[in-house]
Amino acid sequence: MSGTVDLVIFGASGDLSRRKILPSLTHLAARNGSALRVIGAGRSHPSQQEFRDLVNESSGSPELAATAEWVQINYRDPASFAPVKAMLDGTSSAIFYLATPPETFSDILGAVGQSGMAIKGDQSRRIVVEKPLGHDLASARKLNAQLAATFDEEQIFRIDHYLAKDTVQNVLALRFSNSLFEPVWNRNLVESILITAAEEEGIGLRAGYYDRIGAVRDMIQNHVLQLLALVTMEPPITFDADYIRRAKRLALRSMSPLDPSSAVRGQYEGYLDEEGVSPDSRRETYAAARVSIENWRWDGVPIYVRSGKALKRRATEVVIKLRDAPMLRVGGRRQRGIPTLIVIRIQPDEGITLRIGAKRPGVRFEMVPAGMKLDYARLTRQALPDAYENVLSEVLAGGHSAFPGGEEIELSWEIVDPLIKAWEADGHPEPYPVGSWGPQAADDLVGSGGAGRWIVSGDEPGTA
Ligand code: NDP
Ligand code: BG6
Repeated sequence: MSGTVDLVIFGASGDLSRRKILPSLTHLAARNGSALRVIGAGRSHPSQQEFRDLVNESSGSPELAATAEWVQINYRDPASFAPVKAMLDGTSSAIFYLATPPETFSDILGAVGQSGMAIKGDQSRRIVVEKPLGHDLASARKLNAQLAATFDEEQIFRIDHYLAKDTVQNVLALRFSNSLFEPVWNRNLVESILITAAEEEGIGLRAGYYDRIGAVRDMIQNHVLQLLALVTMEPPITFDADYIRRAKRLALRSMSPLDPSSAVRGQYEGYLDEEGVSPDSRRETYAAARVSIENWRWDGVPIYVRSGKALKRRATEVVIKLRDAPMLRVGGRRQRGIPTLIVIRIQPDEGITLRIGAKRPGVRFEMVPAGMKLDYARLTRQALPDAYENVLSEVLAGGHSAFPGGEEIELSWEIVDPLIKAWEADGHPEPYPVGSWGPQAADDLVGSGGAGRWIVSGDEPGTA
């Protein structure tokens, strides 16, 4: 997209818009050589000046604020969208960003389509939708059908901001541009794969959203499965979006639906006292599950994922544990085996660690765990771009590699739906202390499933 691009943000007064979208716009326009005009739309009615102040405060850009406009709409009344359409008359490019709760998506899509603001196949009109993309498989299918009624797949950008993280994209570079790793990346040499997406924060003020959603819908269905798909997929023919999406689709298709008997749910102590949480809520704030991938590359390899709030610290990591070397005997003594670990540190302290065994310096031949560490931030002198800046940059450029396709979304719901249904029907999450690594049962799950124990950098010698 070039020239001036109109960015229509439905729900521009909300949290996402203030904290993520507007701040990412400052560098974005310069980065893409296009000018942006923000058009905020919602039920509330700030004056033009009040909205411009909000844009200025959030984005830090007086230039962006100076042209920003606000339109008051009633999501349920398509006629109320007319002023948005009028503003777009004569504009060369427009992006519609749905930064509103999902229950509004259907009305907004209907109004945008009916009004002719967007035309199917017209690449100068694009739509961005935020997660959650559906609540289950059936609603995800419905949303995809609604999107497809007004937009071609090329015009649709479904946000999973993890895919826009540099370190997540670097999984592709690590795997497919280094001949060292790909030959070992399979069931012959990989003993287990562990993915942790841990957050130190609790749910904060998001009870209204979170207490209906829980950890599986909030993190596993999207961010974690996307990450797992990138880690386990076959090499794409090229790094173009079509091929990456195709490879991810096949990886997701090979994953079996999550089995409640190989999964653990937890709820942090004190969750029920959080403002807005139902006092008898059974919602999980932690989930761990075994994922089975039934294909030639991964069959039989124990793969575990976990994600939770109010845990010991923020850490998102993929740990690939390689099989032990057969033996090491020195002077008749068997040496302690030190498993080789490839640790992809998505955040924080972004980078990759190869944890290997090394000889302890000194006269005796003794093994110690040691790390070879890539600090991702050191590869550039600039601060790593924010994921939302990457996301919007891709939307402007029309690239799709950082966005999951509609079919991937449906496949992911197919994987998590049975677990969610079973948990919602019955039972209670196991309480876990704030600041721990989650319920004990999740450790037992991994231990009994042949993957040893959960590993995170810092808690493991040689991975710090
Ligand atoms: P908010 O609850 O802050 O809502 C955004 C705006 O939508 C509000 O300012 C309000 O604007 C409008 N709105 C709120 N509730 C309703 C309603 N019931 N009916 C119609 N309009 C409503 O949400 P967020 O900004 O936190 O999130 C927006 C979207 O982004 C959601 O889909 C969320 O799941 C997703 N998301 C948010 C993240 C975050 O960090 N906040 C992270 C990832 C995804 P007005 O009153 O002007 O109409
Ligand atoms: C969002 C979830 O998608 O991702 C939040 O809704 C979660 O609950 C957030 O906190 C985590 O994102 P990040 O980039 O901070 O790891």
